[in-house]
Amino acid sequence: MLEQNRENAPQKVDFDPFTNDYAKDPYPTLERLRANSPLLYWEEGRCWVASRYATVVVLLRDPRFTTDRSVWEHAGHGQAAALCPEFVEMNRNGLFSLDQVAHARVRKLVSPSFTPRAIERLRPAVQGIVDEVLDAAEGKDVLDVTRDFADQIPVRVIGALLNIPADRQAQFHHFADAVVRQLMPMLIKPSEIEENFAAIREGIAMIEGVIEERRQHPIEGDILTSLIQAEEQGDRLSKGELVSLVSGLVVGGSETTVHLIGFMVLNLLQRPELLAEAKANPELIKGVLEEVLRFDNFGRLGITRYAKEDIELDGARIKKGQMVILMLNSAMRDAAAIPMPDTFDPHRDTVTSLAFGNGAHFCLGASLARLEGQIAVGTLLSRFPDLRQEKGAVFGPHPLIRKLDSLQVRLRPAVS
Ligand code: HEM
Repeated sequence: MLEQNRENAPQKVDFDPFTNDYAKDPYPTLERLRANSPLLYWEEGRCWVASRYATVVVLLRDPRFTTDRSVWEHAGHGQAAALCPEFVEMNRNGLFSLDQVAHARVRKLVSPSFTPRAIERLRPAVQGIVDEVLDAAEGKDVLDVTRDFADQIPVRVIGALLNIPADRQAQFHHFADAVVRQLMPMLIKPSEIEENFAAIREGIAMIEGVIEERRQHPIEGDILTSLIQAEEQGDRLSKGELVSLVSGLVVGGSETTVHLIGFMVLNLLQRPELLAEAKANPELIKGVLEEVLRFDNFGRLGITRYAKEDIELDGARIKKGQMVILMLNSAMRDAAAIPMPDTFDPHRDTVTSLAFGNGAHFCLGASLARLEGQIAVGTLLSRFPDLRQEKGAVFGPHPLIRKLDSLQVRLRPAVS
């Protein structure tokens, strides 16, 4: 395959992103990729891997590439039995998959609800959720930042964002868990498939019910109400599109933000001077957040694009239907685009950051993620100023992200 697709046979590069060493520190591997095989055909992954900043930006903006997975030559192969048909249908209409005109249409209708100003209105709700989660930690000496803190916040925030009624919050969580599991169908055991499918179906029915109620009884200032009422030149989102959007918010906004919070705490603990500075000057947390996403991005791989036609890129021939993985983690450490990329500097100008993507599919939830990360970590530091690391971070298996399974911190000095 390699020889067929590349004009100049590249050096053979070992690339195994599924090892624990890679999860702990992927940067030596990524540096080798950028230097030796910046556009690599990765046999095991059956796809191309792009690791240089300039190539990644081209891929993000070139309309000959799409996010629509159905274009992939290997789409539908493999884990079909564990994929819920209703989930697949929902994703087909979701922002992540829609291309060009269809994408621009939905994006135009939903974007006004996710501007920094619109999201700022959620500040009290996000603060309330973080306070509640930390209240539960008050009696503890040791806290697992991943499980007892970060994991508890994003899905509740999305529930609050959509004003999911209190009596259906538990069902919404169940739906969110099932949706996240659908992203990794290879990890769903045959005995769990039925339960997973049922949770998806019940969740869709529940969300359809909430949409219907909200249509009848709009709530002032509510995002779901705005989405239902969103209208541009007579165009509106259908019920199916609204359900897809809710699912997309869960997919895009849960594990990502859990890891943003976990990696922010981890990076601060690794830098005691910076931790002290952030405690003294909470404004610095904004810069820490941006720099964590650039310097220590939690993506194991990256985001994907599929070629809609045969394309020549950087001397490689990418065939129609082939997948390319855009390694955002590597691109943001590329010295050709980022000055001193291996220095953690929370004061740097991050306009070149690709952490939330670039172009048409730029993260819809970027403002919300920033708000959550800042409030979560800022509140943790102000309530537990003596916080320090108790045990080494534990990374677990995950096909898409460097999964931070556990990060134990001591909340107050041990009494001897
Ligand atoms: C640290 C947290 C987050 C990171 C690093 C992140 C990253 C990204 C990236 C890189 C993309 C572009 C994907 C592509 O071009 O293929 C994206 C898209 C998206 N994100 Fe996020 N995201 C985060 C949080 C959120 C949150 C909190 C939400 C929602 C509540 C969200 C919802 C979305 C949606 C709906 C899209 C698709 C936008 C489109 O295709 O038009 N994300 N995100």
